[in-house]
Amino acid sequence: MPILFNAAAKQFHLSNGSFSYIIRILENLSIGQVYAGAALRPDGNYSLLDPLPFPGFSNNDKAFTRFEYPVNGNGDFRRPAFTVRFPEGLGEGGEALGSTVIEPRYKSHRIYAGKPELSGMPAAYTEKDDEAETLELELLDAASGLKIILFYTMFTQYNCLARRVRFSNGGNKKISLENAMSLSLDLPDSRWNLITLTGAWAREFDIGDAPLRTGFQGIQSSRGISGAQTNPAVILRRPSATENEGEALGASLIYSGNFIADVEVDQWDIARLRIGINPDGFSWELAEGAIFDTPEAILAWSARGLNGLSQVFHELYRNRLARGAWRDAERPVLLNNWEGTYFNFTEKKILEMAASARDLGAELFVLDDGWFGKRDDDHSSLGDWFPHKEKLPEGVAGLAKKVTALGIKFGLWIEPEMVNPDSDLYRAHPDWAIHIPQRQRTEQRNQYVLDMGRPEIVDHLFKVLSAILESAPISYIKWDMNRFITEPYSIALPPRRQGEFFHRYVLGLYDLYTGLTKAFPEILFESCASGGARFDPGLLGFAPQGWLSDDTDAVERLSIQEGASLIYPLSSMGAHVSAIPNHQTSRLTPLPFRAMVSFFGCLGYELDPTKFSAEEREAVKKQIAFYKAHRRTFQYGRFFRLPSPLRGRSNTNGRFAAWMVISDDGAEAIVGVYKILSNPNQRPFRLKLAGLAGNADYQVTVWEEGGYSEEDKNLNCGGRGGDELMQAGLLLECTGHHSPKNGDFFSELFLLRKQGASK
Ligand code: DGJ
Repeated sequence: MPILFNAAAKQFHLSNGSFSYIIRILENLSIGQVYAGAALRPDGNYSLLDPLPFPGFSNNDKAFTRFEYPVNGNGDFRRPAFTVRFPEGLGEGGEALGSTVIEPRYKSHRIYAGKPELSGMPAAYTEKDDEAETLELELLDAASGLKIILFYTMFTQYNCLARRVRFSNGGNKKISLENAMSLSLDLPDSRWNLITLTGAWAREFDIGDAPLRTGFQGIQSSRGISGAQTNPAVILRRPSATENEGEALGASLIYSGNFIADVEVDQWDIARLRIGINPDGFSWELAEGAIFDTPEAILAWSARGLNGLSQVFHELYRNRLARGAWRDAERPVLLNNWEGTYFNFTEKKILEMAASARDLGAELFVLDDGWFGKRDDDHSSLGDWFPHKEKLPEGVAGLAKKVTALGIKFGLWIEPEMVNPDSDLYRAHPDWAIHIPQRQRTEQRNQYVLDMGRPEIVDHLFKVLSAILESAPISYIKWDMNRFITEPYSIALPPRRQGEFFHRYVLGLYDLYTGLTKAFPEILFESCASGGARFDPGLLGFAPQGWLSDDTDAVERLSIQEGASLIYPLSSMGAHVSAIPNHQTSRLTPLPFRAMVSFFGCLGYELDPTKFSAEEREAVKKQIAFYKAHRRTFQYGRFFRLPSPLRGRSNTNGRFAAWMVISDDGAEAIVGVYKILSNPNQRPFRLKLAGLAGNADYQVTVWEEGGYSEEDKNLNCGGRGGDELMQAGLLLECTGHHSPKNGDFFSELFLLRKQGASK
């Protein structure tokens, strides 16, 4: 049973047999955090693991040092999990007016099979009740009537716990919620390294990895979106943990707006991990009888190192967060015209590109920015979602019909949340743009953001976008978002509720996504925000894939895709081959290298295919055919990061990246090896593989259409044992130092087929 209540010990033990999470009702009826880690026996009484009392508080000696959902003002001086204020006081005489001190105490609990829905926000889900069990723990602040309900869902198949919180005002006075974390966890020691994913435009998913120290550390976004600068997740790994061994714990927030994820190490070495909506600038008015739900956070755990932890997130997010017809479907190989033409295209040019893409084997043509209003550059027309008549004389409908008649599907770019000052929409509704009356409206990329917290704006967008989607055979939508939110303010909210602005924006965004994905269930949605500025689990709940970065350089992509893979599955990563010199870095990398990096994700091409030489055309045809033959493995297989150039823990001296993916049934595995810069007189390098069956034999081959070295092929190909491949590895870099294969950006792809497997 995943959740047991031991009434004598007043202990809740949530466990799926691998991962245990234990909390206890303390003597003063607050909730203590007892344990989170490798599974403990279900029937134990773990009072010896109990948190210790705070020293020095003589009349409060039943309060403890590790709390489950801590409040401050009662002797715990760390950052709290939540803060409420009583602007109207508690009683008729205005008692405790303005106070934030409360006493939430255990009231009741419920344990049941399955997982309840979260209204208005994406969340992980179950398809059958036996996939998970849920604990609802109700706390009550008797003086105010505020109920705090902690939700925990333990999944049986995934080593993770979904957590969220509901605040319910059962009193007769307004309450102001000023901080409401989705998850707080007091760990008993601080011997962890904190991993974060940070970056910038075109440099997303940089892996930061540093030991915890006393005090605060963490990340946050205040941009209105999760941001390229910070991704809403943190990982703790034991200092000795590697990619494949050791303990790691991760928290990821299913949310697309301002967030905070931090760790505070206190004087007793207790590490408090929190993740939730960024409290900076946040408040929510909770009228009598009203409720507020936090977004959901996922707490994942693994004893199998960072790869083990990543695989928990990958499987949960791929199978039980993504939804709809595209969740399990093989994603189409696409051609996107953005880097091929930018804004400069005609219908004739698009049809030539689409026909050429079809001949190469692509299945979807995506028309990017520039098809609407009078948009010939980024100065105008966002908001005017009707066809650019000079470029598309027969409109989107005419073009989409012609493209699909060529035998390739048609997809379209949109940026619904935006408006240019130079647009009909802005001229008609200047007040729809987010602004503070009497203050400057900051432009970014010459555009403003619409106030998505206003239902009439969401309704308008739903209508105009539905009209386009109904008018033409459109199979795919790329939903972009190219700026941050400044001057946060809604003219539709009263002054005391302005703290609700950012969260209402996110709820409005989710509302529009919900409406469109429900109305057009057959369309594949891909999210984008200047690349990866909103690549988060919140949007994965609607768009099962996202555009990771505007940086399409294959070397850069090695680190971007690898960083993203700490949390996100390959099926969520749009990965495109682009032209050289690369538009972001001017780097020249070989075509096979570019393809082999993009194979590990949802393959696309982003260039003008009519410009390929005959030789390149043949090579790309073979790339696409190869990818299609192995696409289920690439998109839905179990992914491993092998020794990496990105972190000091590898034995590759920063010269290699290597990735591996294993099909669901274990029948095939594919290993990509990427040399970045070469140096002379190399010593042979053994690349140990992971995740294979040690007692099985594998037939190893190389992909002959890619770059490969005869020496590596001769040494490694043939029948090899799974144990040998994992313990001794592939032997690489035996090429003599005069070999042409010895240069920069050389890559090889090895295919492993399990002997006796049916395919
Ligand atoms: C930013 C995206 O990341 C690009 O791929 C492209 O769609 C442009 N916007 C279009 O303006």
